[in-house]
Amino acid sequence: MTSNSIDSLLHESRRFAPSEAFSSASEASSELYTSAKEDRLEFWADKAREYVHWHKPFTETLDWSTPPFAKWFADGELNVAYNCLDRHVLAGNGDRIAIHWEGEPGDSRSITYAELTAEVKRAANAMAALGVTQGDVVAIYMPLVPEAVIAMLATVRLGAAHSVVFGGFSAESLRSRIDDASAKLVVTADGGWRKGKVFPLKAAVDAALANGESSVTNVLVVKRGDNEVEWTEGRDLWWHDQIEAAEPEHEAQAFPAENPLFVLYTSGTTGKPKGILHTSGGYLTQAAFTHKNVFDLKPETDVYWCTADVGWITGHTYVTYGPLANGATQVLYEGTPDTPNQGRWWEIIQKYGVSIFYTAPTAIRSFMKAGRQIPEQFDLSSIRVLGSVGEPINPEAWIWYRDVIGGGSAPIVDTWWQTETGAIMVSALPGLTTLKPGSAQVPIPGIKIDILGEDGTRVDPPNGGLLVVSEPWPSMLRGIWGDPERFKETYWSKFPTLDAPKYFAGDGAHVDEDGDIWLLGRVDDVMNVSGHRLSTTEIESALVSNPIVAEAAVVGAADEATGQAVVAFVILKSNQEHAQTAAEASALLRQHVAKEIGAIARPREIFIVAELPKTRSGKIMRRLLQDVAEGREIGDTTTLADTTVMQIISDKLK
Ligand code: PRX
Repeated sequence: MTSNSIDSLLHESRRFAPSEAFSSASEASSELYTSAKEDRLEFWADKAREYVHWHKPFTETLDWSTPPFAKWFADGELNVAYNCLDRHVLAGNGDRIAIHWEGEPGDSRSITYAELTAEVKRAANAMAALGVTQGDVVAIYMPLVPEAVIAMLATVRLGAAHSVVFGGFSAESLRSRIDDASAKLVVTADGGWRKGKVFPLKAAVDAALANGESSVTNVLVVKRGDNEVEWTEGRDLWWHDQIEAAEPEHEAQAFPAENPLFVLYTSGTTGKPKGILHTSGGYLTQAAFTHKNVFDLKPETDVYWCTADVGWITGHTYVTYGPLANGATQVLYEGTPDTPNQGRWWEIIQKYGVSIFYTAPTAIRSFMKAGRQIPEQFDLSSIRVLGSVGEPINPEAWIWYRDVIGGGSAPIVDTWWQTETGAIMVSALPGLTTLKPGSAQVPIPGIKIDILGEDGTRVDPPNGGLLVVSEPWPSMLRGIWGDPERFKETYWSKFPTLDAPKYFAGDGAHVDEDGDIWLLGRVDDVMNVSGHRLSTTEIESALVSNPIVAEAAVVGAADEATGQAVVAFVILKSNQEHAQTAAEASALLRQHVAKEIGAIARPREIFIVAELPKTRSGKIMRRLLQDVAEGREIGDTTTLADTTVMQIISDKLK
């Protein structure tokens, strides 16, 4: 974010107090903050007992004796799938709809808790028959169909962990994730619907498993796209055949609170994505607690819709685990917001009477651009709470969201969190907080956040600094899969106070006079494109893996629609300079990045240049490239080894 936009953010003075009616009917009371302040650990222990069914109750809340490795509720035992399914049926809520699923072509299915439980039991039996057991990893590479959620729950019902890989990622990305976690089984689909067409998924799985040894023994294939697929006998099995043949009854076993629940890969500052590990009891506690209180959920009457794909953390915590643990009724939509027309999301809200809606600023900005006349054609009066996640929401988008989607009255919760934090960490509570457009505001009860300067001291308002989490929290990541050193180094080495290291989130933030937090974006080499995390280094590695490239530098440039956009500067190998035009080379390389990583990483622009700006020690000065990419005056070049380089680059690009 530029200093101009920071200034205008901090001068945002509009305030929206909760209405009397909303507050008095709200789930959360200020008692939450008081009790968390009095005794933070006792607060979380209470929440763990209130929100989670324990097969064996825990006696110890937190073990922080070997930081940064935390254990929460360690001697307790639970089954996460039982918590999301069976217990609702046993409580007499089996007939409540768990999922209203909407396929992109217009097909739909409504599934009750009893039906979902029955399906997950069969799927668990089918997976167990293929040898899946506690300690295994199941890779899930699916479109957004109910079977994606069913596969997640069946995996964890068995005490195994899943690794969901977003369906938009390439075969190459899938392969590295399968290998890194030694996945035993892959659950996929023939294809899924997107933008009016079937995109093939099974083919990518085939490619990912094609060369060399693999840990994968079977591939379960859901029939969705009806597209042709290749078949490897002995390895590939149709999901429906296995489910049909499976026993219907399955009793959920209890597993320790710290049993791995899932690993989810996310981009960091180095080339290789890291497998973020989450475990069971603490994760489920914070997922369910935040889902209930941040969204003011009333499970008997609300219809909740989070638009995230299960391939991202938001889809894990606020599509699968939080809502289902709370017995909520939710909408799941397979496709894109503009298929077959730009009213699709609003039509779905009207059809199901969605009352809580959770999406990303990038989507809101694109709807703003298309105009309010589109949502205005639909009855959105059922909406009572709106949520935002993934990047800072600019005040104008906030106001539009509230006015046009929220009928001028729905509170907006701007929720800050990360793949690593597992669940929401900073957010307003809609019945309690006076809202400030553009600010994520306050830590949720039981969470300790600080804004520190580089030297580790707390910054005073209105100054900016680095956001840290100062105390361990239940849904915190437990590590990076297979790499404890990288875990310590990445998150805990910046502020390493011996007995109480602080978690460094990688985000810059300001705190204002009221103590409200304003997020300012990443301070590391991580970009945020449409709310998705991408690493500059990972894209640079993809570019230099192409034989025509000698060197590459990638920056995240401010972009009105996507927040940031990927912009690359590439030097071609000398024998390539005349082999094609710059336009041809750039088109070829954009495609290459999409193939290596996935379409979300495809650069918006690639500039073919003769040199890159480097310091005398050879470090690329991305800050200067960012100036060029954002069309700004170029900043201080005095530390460059060759101070004329930037002039040459900008002259050429003009
Ligand atoms: O920079 C922050 C931004 O997204 C990053 C985390 O990305 P990821 O792990 O993919 O999780 C996204 C969904 C939880 C953070 O480091 N971010 C997320 N939410 C917000 C945000 N930035 C500002 N405001 C938010 N509400």
